[in-house]
Formats: sequence, C-alpha cells, structure tokens
Amino acid sequence: MTDPAQTDLSKDAAARAAVALVQPGMRLGLGTGSTAAIFVRRLAQRVAEEGFELRCAATSKATAELATSLGLRVEDLNDIGWLDLTIDGADEVDPDLNLIKGGGAAHLREKIVATASDRMVVIADQGKVVDRLGAFHLPVEVIPFGCQTTKTQIQHALDDLGLKHRPILLRKRDGETLLTDEGNYILDLALEAIPDPQALARRLSAIAGVVEHGLFLNICQLAIIGCPDGSVVELLREDIE
Ligand code: A5P
Repeated sequence: MTDPAQTDLSKDAAARAAVALVQPGMRLGLGTGSTAAIFVRRLAQRVAEEGFELRCAATSKATAELATSLGLRVEDLNDIGWLDLTIDGADEVDPDLNLIKGGGAAHLREKIVATASDRMVVIADQGKVVDRLGAFHLPVEVIPFGCQTTKTQIQHALDDLGLKHRPILLRKRDGETLLTDEGNYILDLALEAIPDPQALARRLSAIAGVVEHGLFLNICQLAIIGCPDGSVVELLREDIE
C-alpha cells in the first residue's frame, strides 16, 4: 500500500515540473483531479510572483472555481479557441502514453480541452504507471435517456471483444446517481485488463448513447511522473515512436 504522504509529494513534484513548462501569454488547459489541483495552486503562486498574463480554459466546474479563486484568468474555451498546452492528471498511463481518465467524472471536458491543444502533458505519481490499461475501471459518460439500453449495448461490445461478464457499474456519489458537469451519468467498466484499447474505443464511440469514454489514445505527448524525493521522470511520446 502506497503511503498517501509519499503520493502527495510525488504529485507535487510532477506539478512543479509542469509549472516550469508554462510560458507567459500562453493559452492553457487546466485539468481536473487532485494532481491537477496541486498544479493549479502552484501555477497561481508563480503567476502571482512573476505577474504575467495567461488565458486558461478549465476542464470542470471545480477546476474553474479553484483557478478563479486563486486569481487565474479562466475563460470559456469558445472564447479562447485553441490552446497551447493542457496539463492534466490521469488514472492510468501505459508505456505508449495512452491513458485512462475520468476517475473524477470530468473526462468529457478533459478530452475536448486536451484535443484542442497543441500539446497535452500528464502529471502523475508512480502509482498511475501501468504495463497495460484496464485495472482502473474505465469510465464511460452516457446520456441518462435509455441508459439501461446503452449499458446492454456496451455489454454486447465487450462480449464481442472477448471481455465477457465484466461488471458495468453506474457511478454513485453519496448514495445518489452521479451527474457529470454536463448532466450525464457515468458507467464504470470493471475490465481488469484491456487487450486492445483502440478496438474498444472504436466500439464504445459507435454506441449512440455513449457521449465519451475515458480512453485517451495518442493524445498525450509527455508524462511527468513525480517521485517522493521531489525528482521527476519524463516519458516522451517521441521516445516510443
Ligand atoms: C478526472 O476526471 C480524471 O481524469 C483525473 O484527471 C484523474 O482521475 C486523476 O485524478 P487524480 O490526480 O486525483 O488522481
């Protein structure tokens, strides 16, 4: 079991390294989750100290509120249009820098923001690095209308891909069905392992009631993995192509 204090030190190390990538005047995407929140705090500190301008787009209401409260300029993505860089956390990072995201139910906006950026950089602790995606439940955002039917369609897709009898769980929070920032539900797919992420992504995207799944494939260019001693390991997409 990883010590939470060590994990926090690792997240902070990754966040600090990511803050160093930010240049004055950048249009920046801000991720969601505990690691992204540390990044936002560290970024706000640097901006306050150095007094430069940034235009930020947030990937969730929570991040928008945090960033605004710390004095960062948060704008609608439509007003910014395109971003230079997005910094976000992840639930799993594989050796090809493919990701599972959505543990914080924000992967829809996170994917919109990441794919509207010249560069997406993931910050994470070592516990997120995996050999193969899938131990973390894969979040799938679905429209509430017909969600049982959508769940059945997902089950059929999983069966076809050799992933039979994998539980599909409607996400709850405080005993109530969780609603995303867009008012949708999350189905968490307990897959254990995903042998072919591309095939699964294609099948999920083809289901009408699925809004977006948490597989981020070929989107992240750099992963900064923090270590408890404050150092970081950088995994670059160029290294793996
Ligand atoms: C939010 O929906 C997620 O994609 C987060 O980026 C992911 O869950 C990582 O969160 P932590 O940094 O809290 O582990």
